[in-house]
Order: sequence, then structure tokens, then C-alpha cells
Amino acid sequence: MARIFVTRSLPGRALERLADAHETEVWPDRLPPPRPALEERARSAEGLLSLLTDPIDAELIAACQELRAISNYAVGVDNVDLAAATARGIPVGNTPGVLTDSTADLALALMLGIARRIVEGDEFVQAGEWVTWEPGLLLGHDLHGATVGIIGFGRIGQAVARRLDGFGCEILHTSRSGGVELGELLERSDFVTLHCPLTAETRGLIGAEALRRMKPSAYLVNTARGPIVDSEALRGALEQGEIAGAALDVTEPEPLPADHPLLGAPNLVVIPHLGSATHATRERMADMAVDNLLAGLAGERMPYCANPQVYGEAARA
Ligand code: DGY
Repeated sequence: MARIFVTRSLPGRALERLADAHETEVWPDRLPPPRPALEERARSAEGLLSLLTDPIDAELIAACQELRAISNYAVGVDNVDLAAATARGIPVGNTPGVLTDSTADLALALMLGIARRIVEGDEFVQAGEWVTWEPGLLLGHDLHGATVGIIGFGRIGQAVARRLDGFGCEILHTSRSGGVELGELLERSDFVTLHCPLTAETRGLIGAEALRRMKPSAYLVNTARGPIVDSEALRGALEQGEIAGAALDVTEPEPLPADHPLLGAPNLVVIPHLGSATHATRERMADMAVDNLLAGLAGERMPYCANPQVYGEAARA
């Protein structure tokens, strides 16, 4: 039996399988374990099941001398110092694939939501302001037939493209492996939607200059990671009318404090990182995370490993 620390309770029954096999402690609170609590528990753990809200950095990894396997309950692993884990030979599991369609669905929901003013419409009705049908009430813009620029064309970006095909959209994409130049994509798109991982190259990718290159009638949608967009530059662009609006599932910082200046910006919809938030998807993610951890602790290859170099394989492209 190995000692395992799980940084939050997960939907479904997957954690029961972990507890049946190993000595498992689950952080009981709704909020993430504060750093000292994370350090204290992780220090004696052989297995760690972390969330995207837990910084599993080099310092923490160095302090955890017993640690043999990390399983992150997310496809993104930007909260884990992969290089530090790899240097110690610790496999890091993630959950690709299962959340692709849910996240792509949400990206479409945000495109429609911002361009068809769904949140504004709801607030209008709930506030009792709706007195009659009017030809000019809450006019928005069409998604069908629009040109959509997809930044990052991996699983989720491609799933978004498949959906947009049904809307008769023209798709532009840019990614590490091809597509159009970023500048061309920004200039031609009616919607720009982000689906790239957060890396040193993509941090701040959508800053003041990129936003200026977008059409004043265009919308920005982010369901990837908050720091890909410069929050201050976005606020400026929305205030100056440099773009028509933005719909964000992820933000920098995350969560946004209630008094954060971005929240006052016009034509902005923000939701709390819900890309994978369906019952079925979050339960499948829990199963994958547990499968990864069980395999890692058994000395077997993790089914989904973000640092396959620990198995002598090449890093993923
Ligand atoms: C991920 O998995 O990286 C998402 O952001 C949360 O499901």
C-alpha cells in the first residue's frame, strides 16, 4: 500500500478505487490546500493526485522525496513543473481526449453567447425590463457564415472546427505545425478562439498588439488558459472598442477577484473555467486520473502520461 494525497474530492466513484488499493487522504475542503498544507501532506506521499489549481513546482517536487507518481486531474499540465518531475523520473499523468468534446461545445456556446447577447438578454428579462418585442432590441452578430480563427489546432481546436463546419463557417487555424500566420488569422477572423496549451511561447500571446490587429467587429473566446490573454490589454481593447467583445472561460488571475478591473469592461462574458464541467466528463476525468496514478504506483506505464521521457520515449510534439 502506498500513501496518496488527493488535493480535492472528485465527482463519481473513482476515488473509491484508489482508497481500496492505497492509504488515501483526500483534502476535504472546497478550496485548494494552502501551500503549507499541500507541502506537509505531499512530503510523505508516494502518489499525488493534483488539480490545475495546485502549483506542483520544482520546490515542492524537491521536498517530496517519497513521490513516485503525480496524476493531474486536467489535460493541461502547466501547473506542474514537468522538467523537475522528469528529472526525478516521476511520471505525470493527465486526462486528454475525454474533455475534448465538452470543451469544444462550450467554446461554441461562448461564441453564440457573446455574439447573440444571451447573457445580456437574460439579465434584461430577469430585471423586468422587457416590455415589448422590438425590431432593434439587443441585436447581435451571426456565427453562421462567419470566419473563425482557431489558435491551437490539437484535439480541441479540431473538435471546434468540426462543429463550425455545421455552421457554414470559414475556418482559419494556426498552430505549431502549420496553418496561416497568426497576424493573418487575427486580421481576417470574425471570431478568434484559443485552444493552445499555456507555454512560454503562448503566455501573453494575445496582448495589446494582437488585439489591435483584430477587426473592431470581432470577438475573442478563451477556453484554454487565462495567461494566454493579457487581461489589462483586453480591458483596454474592450473599453476602446478595438474588438466587439470577449467571452472567457479562463482568466488571469483565476479566479478573478470581484473588484478586478477587467470585470467592469464592456461586452465581456466571464464564466468560471467550465470547459470540462459536465457530470459525464468530470467523472471520466476522475477515472483516468485514478488509472494513471494506480499504474504509476504499480511501476507500470501510465495510460496517459505528459512526460513520456520517463519511459525513455520522445516528448510529445
Ligand atoms: C483541463 O483539463 O486542462 C481543463 O482546463 C479543465 O478540465
